[in-house]
Amino acid sequence: MDTHTGLQSPKGIWWKPAHKAERMWVGIAFGWCMVLFAMMPLWHFRGGQNPAGIRRRVDPAAYYKRTMEFIKTYQVGVDHGIPVVAPPPGSEVYLMAQQFQWTPVLRLQLNTEYTLHLSALDVNHGFSLFPVNVNFQVVPGYDYGLRVKPTETGDFRIICNEFCGIGHHTMVGRVVVVDSLGRELKPARAVQ
Ligand code: CUA
Repeated sequence: MDTHTGLQSPKGIWWKPAHKAERMWVGIAFGWCMVLFAMMPLWHFRGGQNPAGIRRRVDPAAYYKRTMEFIKTYQVGVDHGIPVVAPPPGSEVYLMAQQFQWTPVLRLQLNTEYTLHLSALDVNHGFSLFPVNVNFQVVPGYDYGLRVKPTETGDFRIICNEFCGIGHHTMVGRVVVVDSLGRELKPARAVQ
């Protein structure tokens, strides 16, 4: 029997050139890789998937102070011990994440632009607004400012989607979007 090891190469032509079909599939796979690769930068500019927000470094203590100032200025009530804040149109809105709550509760107006600042005081948290399909990292030491414009009235929940400790699953916040008359629900739903 003819044997060989890694040290002795096999005799003769032991390999066959790739079949035409194999080469074709490698070509297709490579082409598709290039398409997916191009999608990443393309989607940034065309897809609106990665909004270009304002990012800057911030000291967590300074962010806390700024948020408290924001709350003091525009507070309209309290919900389960968390202040409810109704900022005026076009204003800078501050939302603070910490183990295991979101502060404050936001009361925003429909079709109105705001700059929503997100930052954390302790560890990484995740901002996702149920049932809207958005998802942002909330990182201590960074102020992430998003230009937002609510397009639907309702009572939304902020779900923390980054594991942040033992109470992670309880970390739920609230955003209420009201119309110009201060109503939360769409007329069609309110009638029922
Ligand atoms: Cu905050 Cu999970």
